[in-house]
Amino acid sequence: MTRSNIPSMFSLKGKTALIVGGSSGIGRETAITFAEAGADVIVADINEENAKSVYHEMTKLGIKSKVLKVDVADASSVEQMINDLLSSFDSIDILVNSAGINSRVPAENLSEEDWDNVIDINLKGTFLCCKCVAKIMMKQKEGNIINLASMSGMIVNKDRTISAYCSSKGGVIMLTKSLAVEWAKYNIRVNALAPGYVMTPINPWMRDRQINKPTIDLIPMQRFAEPSEISATALFLASGASSYMTGSVLTVDGGYTSY
Ligand SMILES: NC(=O)c1ccc[n+]([C@@H]2O[C@H](COP(=O)([O-])OP(=O)(O)OC[C@H]3O[C@@H](n4cnc5c(N)ncnc54)[C@H](O)[C@@H]3O)[C@@H](O)[C@H]2O)c1
Repeated sequence: MTRSNIPSMFSLKGKTALIVGGSSGIGRETAITFAEAGADVIVADINEENAKSVYHEMTKLGIKSKVLKVDVADASSVEQMINDLLSSFDSIDILVNSAGINSRVPAENLSEEDWDNVIDINLKGTFLCCKCVAKIMMKQKEGNIINLASMSGMIVNKDRTISAYCSSKGGVIMLTKSLAVEWAKYNIRVNALAPGYVMTPINPWMRDRQINKPTIDLIPMQRFAEPSEISATALFLASGASSYMTGSVLTVDGGYTSY
């Protein structure tokens, strides 16, 4: 790759990207960013209504798109999603796993059901989507997977009671590294993004100024991230610009984990 190729390095023209959890927040922004970079984009989510609004925004950019309903915690639903996708598209070049939930109950009161929900969606769901899509990518002899982990997979957020969430994201980091090693021989790259605090619907408390102040004080850059600051790094990982990266965890946290 030569330096004169830099603009084309970031292009996703000719690629097909599946964004799971693409109807809101980071997934939504990533879908639109990838469409702007020229990819055809399929948005899959449990919330089909929101996904349709992303679809309308993307088709204005002249790319091919589709909306699929999926519950990532259900293996048969994930398989159905892939079958539906392959009825309209020939390949899946890029997979982004952005479906996720949180539970903010102190560990001693966290119910088994809440624990299972968080682990099933954040960790098992990521595994199921990776597994299903990798089978297609192996046949293609090429593929690129980006998992949304979190800085909470590496550190415990100060003053937050999110044990299931942290555990799930620590799992996503190790899953990413394991799959990267297992699938490198198939020319499939697997990397993770580890954002800090991002202004999206998963964090409704961010709108409360009083709660925000102590958290913002913990962030060296003194602010939360915009979803576009995460989707830009997703584009880097999805593009040829990161061609030698696999098994990496890219932290995008305004410096939170540097202390
Ligand atoms: N916002 C942050 O501060 C932050 C920080 C680090 C990591 N993350 C991670 O980034 C990812 C995206 O989060 P976000 O902030 O955009 O949140 P969000 O709530 O805006 O988006 C999450 C999406 O996942 C979908 N989803 C939930 N359960 C699902 C299921 N069972 N099947 C399919 N889709 C399902 C939701 O409908 C939603 O569209 C998550 O994995 C999250 O843990 C977020």
